[in-house]
Amino acid sequence: MRAAIIVALDTDAHTALSLARTLRGHVSHLKVGMTLYYAEGPDIVKRLGDLGFSVFVDLKLHDIPHQVEGAARQIARTGARMFTVHASGGREMMEAAVRGACAGSAECGSDTPDVLAVTVLTSLDAQSLATVGVDASPADQVQRLTWLAREAGVQGVVCSPVEAAAARSIMGSEALVVTPGVRPSWASCDDQARVATPGDALVSGASHLVIGRPITAASEPTASVERIIAEG
Ligand code: C5P
Repeated sequence: MRAAIIVALDTDAHTALSLARTLRGHVSHLKVGMTLYYAEGPDIVKRLGDLGFSVFVDLKLHDIPHQVEGAARQIARTGARMFTVHASGGREMMEAAVRGACAGSAECGSDTPDVLAVTVLTSLDAQSLATVGVDASPADQVQRLTWLAREAGVQGVVCSPVEAAAARSIMGSEALVVTPGVRPSWASCDDQARVATPGDALVSGASHLVIGRPITAASEPTASVERIIAEG
């Protein structure tokens, strides 16, 4: 498989660490989202990093630029390799996140994490977008926000696999295009609305596939990973 799998650990710390030990050697990236981070704090990022994983901190920052700059700086100090902000927070907010990432990593002498701009959540469809006042289709809204993310100088975007090709053509070949909403044909969609298989996400230009429950809820997580890699 050309793209890296990022396993979303939306669990408690005990389960997350046990999954991490199980998945060592099978995947290189783990994602810490709000469920795990708000329970355990920055320490969980360090612990997973110490196990040798590249850790993606997915807190989807969305606040005034000053606050986001400070949060980004603190995330960078954890050793995280990537983190998310909402593109809908605007260009200045995304620029502040990039500044914060550079400042935090410089303070600790670590690599600067990549800032990823979340375009449209993969759980939203056209109807739910309309209820929050966005009349554009998910595809159009993703493109609009991807252009903004590119202008702000972030390293990549998060979008559904369905919009990955458009995001890739806007961001260029070097950017990260990270796609949640990935479901192998044998897995349930859960609450994801705009989904595609790993193979389709790869063909569309995704650089990283975020996959949670099809791996973490499986009776044999490593077998699920290997099946996904074989199918991709
Ligand atoms: O379990 P599942 O594969 O649905 O997990 C997807 C992960 O991707 C979750 O951790 C979720 O927070 C994250 N995510 C998403 N849609 C986005 C951005 C992140 O589902 N647009």
